[in-house]
Amino acid sequence: MTNQTGPGGDVRLTGIAKTYGAFTAVHPLDLTVPQGSFFALLGASGCGKTTTLRMIAGLEEPSAGTVFLGDQDVTALPPYKRPVNTVFQSYALFPHLDIFENVAFGLRRRGLKSVKKQVEEMLELVQLGEQARKKPHQLSGGQQQRVAVARALINHPKVLLLDEPLGALDLKLRRQMQLELKRIQTEVGITFIHVTHDQEEAMTMADTVAVMNGGRVEQLGAPTDLYENPRTTFVANFLGTSNFIEAEVDSRSGEEIVLKAGGGKLVLPEARCSAPTATGGKVLVGVRPEKISLSHADDAGEIPEGRNRITGRIADSSFIGVSTQYVVDSPVCSDFEVYAQNIDRDPRLVPGAEVVLHWNPAHTFGLDAAQDADAGVEEAA
Ligand SMILES: Nc1ncnc2c1ncn2[C@@H]1O[C@H](COP(=O)(O)OP(=O)(O)OP(=O)(O)O)[C@@H](O)[C@H]1O
Ligand SMILES: [Mg+2]
Repeated sequence: MTNQTGPGGDVRLTGIAKTYGAFTAVHPLDLTVPQGSFFALLGASGCGKTTTLRMIAGLEEPSAGTVFLGDQDVTALPPYKRPVNTVFQSYALFPHLDIFENVAFGLRRRGLKSVKKQVEEMLELVQLGEQARKKPHQLSGGQQQRVAVARALINHPKVLLLDEPLGALDLKLRRQMQLELKRIQTEVGITFIHVTHDQEEAMTMADTVAVMNGGRVEQLGAPTDLYENPRTTFVANFLGTSNFIEAEVDSRSGEEIVLKAGGGKLVLPEARCSAPTATGGKVLVGVRPEKISLSHADDAGEIPEGRNRITGRIADSSFIGVSTQYVVDSPVCSDFEVYAQNIDRDPRLVPGAEVVLHWNPAHTFGLDAAQDADAGVEEAA
């Protein structure tokens, strides 16, 4: 894409904040979105995603802080002077114009006469070349969404802001459009900042995800990093499911921390613990449901040495095709979730069965026990 509309570079927010009267929608926020990256702002309803996006677009005036685009301070610039375009959930296409003219709109407004080549290229990019002469109502929701993306991209923005752009689509179409948007972003190479409350969507599409909670970014990182190394219970529960055991620091052996939980011991790599680790201190020991193996208590002797293990009784099991999801009642945690891939099902693993849950200590993470272990559970549901 050509460099027509001012400087590119990283989007940099420094101390950006928004208050409405006594209410703080966005607490002072420092955030850098690298040029050319696919960045997601993820969080539950009301956490300040749209407000943050609108401050980047210039549609909302920050109460404090600065918005940089590359080296340029754009905080005081009106939206139309920023090299930024926004795609909203409601595509707001012009119903009386055909697809070609909808996409051409930005060029015509700038007084360009020969728009054909650019519009055709853009329609090609979003794979709607065949639909150019249709009206918006003759297209599917996903196709209309792509028109909205093409209409924004034709202005050659340096940054495309997307506010829940797939919110109105059904699940299957959403999945398709996630891949489609990712492809388009890779092809045009500009920065996309995508707002969503759907954790799977954020993880599928984005290079970097910022998890927002109550007007703050709780954690920022690559999807795998956030999932494997959550630093708060909110992030651990909002992205997927986590099990927590309250444990007490017992001792240390090399790079590992040994903890007491119930009558037993659990091992946690020190590098994966974000809680203070003084002996006697409390730690929330976390483990993801798919990391855990389930053995019938009669087979406990066959479990390899060196694995973390706890005992329990199956309270509930649901077969969902690719996996079976168990809820296990254990002395150290009343509703431990275990996802077992559906390979060879052990017919003894039914509600009421006494079991041993065991996992590789490397898959354990440790969080500060002062937090609410259930933070983010409701929001993610
Ligand atoms: N103009 C306004 N006046 C007062 N409060 C506002 C205003 N705009 C937003 N808010 C409040 O600021 C908070 C953040 O709103 P925002 O729209 O950024 O949330 P969001 O994360 O985009 O949520 P959603 O997922 O529901 O779109 C909300 O509590 C909202 O009620
Ligand atoms: Mg919003």
